[in-house]
Amino acid sequence: VPLDSRTVVDYLLERGAIDPGDVLDRSLTVVDRSRRNTCFAVSRDDRPGLFVKQPRLDDPHESPGLLRDATLAAAGESSAVLALLAPQLRFYDPRNRVLVVELLAGAEELSAHALRAGGVAPAIAGALGRAVGRLHAAVPADVAGAQTGRATASILWFGQTPDERLPRQTPAIAALRDAARHDPDLSRGLAELREEWRSDAFVHGDLKWENVMVTPEPEPVVHLVDWETSGAGDAAWDVGGLLHAYLRMWVTSLPRDALRPDAAAPAGGEAIAAAAPSIRALWSGYRAAAEPGRPGPFLLRAVRYAGARMLQTAYESAAYARGLSPQAVAFAQLAANVMARPAQAARALFSLPGDAVA
Ligand SMILES: Nc1ncnc2c1ncn2[C@@H]1O[C@H](COP(=O)(O)OP(=O)(O)O)[C@@H](O)[C@H]1O
Ligand SMILES: [Mg+2]
Repeated sequence: VPLDSRTVVDYLLERGAIDPGDVLDRSLTVVDRSRRNTCFAVSRDDRPGLFVKQPRLDDPHESPGLLRDATLAAAGESSAVLALLAPQLRFYDPRNRVLVVELLAGAEELSAHALRAGGVAPAIAGALGRAVGRLHAAVPADVAGAQTGRATASILWFGQTPDERLPRQTPAIAALRDAARHDPDLSRGLAELREEWRSDAFVHGDLKWENVMVTPEPEPVVHLVDWETSGAGDAAWDVGGLLHAYLRMWVTSLPRDALRPDAAAPAGGEAIAAAAPSIRALWSGYRAAAEPGRPGPFLLRAVRYAGARMLQTAYESAAYARGLSPQAVAFAQLAANVMARPAQAARALFSLPGDAVA
């Protein structure tokens, strides 16, 4: 049964997850947080709140992901680091495909925070880098029967997807798939990353600011949500996801004119420069916690994954639109440039010094 913001209360009552008193004393509030999935934040005075997630019936990406989200939340019991990072599991109801976890009250989604604050402060970026570093360093790659294989970074195989297997069969999606297949920079970049992909860490798989929750005060505390694509994979993929978030913020902030194909040099250089301290704090926090064996090559691979992740963002922005927006085109062009010239991207886009990627 698909839940809505009224039936979710009855559903939680029936399950004994909330009690009639919560409803009667009128302190119960339900906020719709739906994204790809239907989501509700349910809070009540003085008691821990609940976060409820259910895939939409018409979602063409049918979702074994939710089950992974649930297993992962449960795996918190066996891994102290996961217990700190992921919201605690309340229950998973396979019949109705409903996941209920602890509500992170007082935390703000990092994308919303960045919009409000005009960026991500180095202290928060550093905390995020350390959190993801600890995840990679401390959690075994096969925790909770973690999946392996292509679900985690499926964009790397996007160019090889035949028409009938495209999750949404729109002209925009087909055009992006064709670019991934035929554009020399994109197809070579993706092929090389497929070749180099390894499965030696437990990765979140979908790191972007929407899936990071932050409590800034007094010391920044970071939680990661939406573990649907987590599994054994390449730690540099997660770092690439975090790097790509800065590119995305930059492109999204550009005026529309700047996105026209005939526009002169890319505008907004100041915006990129302004993010430099945040990006450096992210990387040094990550590096301190994860201690990657050869940090230079690792970072360069992460930068290339940030390029691939930009293509995924182009895909995600095209998935629900009719045509390819100028923004989606800009995302895809940036993806090609970053994968073709990663050292240059590390310097010019991420302000990472040359010796960081040496
Ligand atoms: N446990 C939680 N507590 C509070 N907010 C959450 C929690 N989990 C997710 N959210 C918020 O809800 C949004 C959607 O949840 P998410 O698990 O990412 O679902 P989707 O698959 O739809 O992206 C997140 O981007 C985040 O802002
Ligand atoms: Mg999400």
